Amino acid sequence: MPLSPVLKLGVNIDHVATVREARYRGRPFGEPDPVEAARVCEAAGAHGITCHLREDRRHIVDRDVWRLREVVRTRLNLEMANTPEIVDIALRVRPDIVCLVPERRQEITTEGGLDVAGQEVALTETRRRLNAAGIAVSLFIAPDPAQVAAAARVGSQFVELHTGGFAEHFADPAARAREVERLAAAARQAHELGLRVNAGHGLNYVNLPALWAVPHLVELNIGHSIVSRAVFTGLEQAVRDMLALMAGYPG
Ligand code: PXP
Repeated sequence: MPLSPVLKLGVNIDHVATVREARYRGRPFGEPDPVEAARVCEAAGAHGITCHLREDRRHIVDRDVWRLREVVRTRLNLEMANTPEIVDIALRVRPDIVCLVPERRQEITTEGGLDVAGQEVALTETRRRLNAAGIAVSLFIAPDPAQVAAAARVGSQFVELHTGGFAEHFADPAARAREVERLAAAARQAHELGLRVNAGHGLNYVNLPALWAVPHLVELNIGHSIVSRAVFTGLEQAVRDMLALMAGYPG
């Protein structure tokens, strides 16, 4: 029987920077260092490092992104809004992947998916510029057939399916089943359209196995639950625990 490819883990280290900024905001140093966190995650077996350079720099700041580019040996995935300032930074830093996300200043974390269908022209232009610089592009979208179809038209290499609805409704079996089916249908549609399928937002050590009904997953981007567990177990162990859980994905 052929072995199914390993489900990859991208660790989102934003919340390491959140803790640093709580004490050292505006200073050019401080702990804990997200770059050191990236090193530990990679040593523990993570397949990639993800960070979000937000327009308001509330956690990750520019110097983090430049240092991560130097240090990350696996894959650097930069989450960002499609704005001229941030696109310009991405073109200079050259992460391996950019994941375009919507951004509103009031939100605590990214709340909804991108409206790809409503911004096809602008997203296609940015996708072209990033691809021309050798950067793969992912679009963070709700598991919605219109958004998946629009992502294929934009020509991105990946979609990242927003698992926030799944995570929110996890405690309600009927609603959870509905969310899993939406994700599975979106993953099948994306795969048929030639898109590679990532997923993320709100995934944790408890809800993750319920996601195994979703086919074609390539990579999960997980941050908050890993950084939270790290407070008690250390980051290396928290990453190892997540990887052990992810080994259960049937492919
Ligand atoms: N993927 C994307 C596109 C995100 O915006 C976030 C949140 O920053 C995550 C994954 C990770 O979500 P969480 O921190 O809830 O694991």
